Amino acid sequence: MRETSTAEIVQRALRHKTVVPGFNIPYLPMVAPVVRALRDANSFGLIMVARLEWEKFESRSLEAVAAEYRAQADRRHTRLHLDHVPVIDEDNLAVDFAGIIERALRAGYESVMVDGSRLPLAENIACTARVVALAHAAGVPVEAELGAVLGHEAGPLPPYEELFASGKGFTDPEEARRFVAATGVDWLSVAIGNIHGAISAAAKGQKKIAARLNIAHLARINRAAGVPLVLHGGTGIAKDCILAAIGHGIAKINVATAIRQPYEQALARGVAAAQEAVYAAMRAILRDELEIENSAAILKPEEGT
Ligand code: 13P
Repeated sequence: MRETSTAEIVQRALRHKTVVPGFNIPYLPMVAPVVRALRDANSFGLIMVARLEWEKFESRSLEAVAAEYRAQADRRHTRLHLDHVPVIDEDNLAVDFAGIIERALRAGYESVMVDGSRLPLAENIACTARVVALAHAAGVPVEAELGAVLGHEAGPLPPYEELFASGKGFTDPEEARRFVAATGVDWLSVAIGNIHGAISAAAKGQKKIAARLNIAHLARINRAAGVPLVLHGGTGIAKDCILAAIGHGIAKINVATAIRQPYEQALARGVAAAQEAVYAAMRAILRDELEIENSAAILKPEEGT
């Protein structure tokens, strides 16, 4: 029996109005409790790493995360995803994004993200199309981002309520339509009020702002884009907003801060205690925040179509 691909699993999530969560790995020992929680909850999720997590945290490299994934993986409950590879990073530096994507394809990543959202539209389209050509040649789906999901940059955010009320940086539905058609991208990360948890040394331990989502705006993007949509900044969003978003095209949600901070806070008691803290946080997220215990039964990652 053929294994179900990540692309099919995300399409199934969209059809069944459920969600595939991706969990970020800033510290390699987090992989084991994330996989164990997904298995124990009979849920399904992606193990993922973003460039900033091997540059600024301790996941070492995308190859190191892939090796740890292979040591821990349970294919009925997990796949491996490469999160944010920016074209221009959070410090405004240019990144060899195509080189990183090529390394990820060699290391066995099963889906990849290129983030050209800090570029003008035409350049974001050109860089994303380049990654789509590389990844599709290897049979790997691509996620891209359109709009500004802020929070990873150093320095203070504009006041959240101002940001939300103005809709500044929100993904434009017509641009989303053009972007998907021009790039052939598989999944689109959107900005609809969501923000990333802070990662600077000064702010990474702080409680994240409780974000809200503009669901009417999401519905317009969903009608225009015609591909599964991705919600970044999954930590701390009001639960009613998350559940409504899952009904309007969000088929993948990224969660980092909600499992990283428990790990960091418990680490003084040792790595085993930190892993237990991640496991407990994971079980609560799957059961109470996302309500996706048993989602493996719906997504059927073990059987091809
Ligand atoms: P949070 O840190 O807010 O959960 O965001 C995670 C994310 O979007 C990673 O791509």
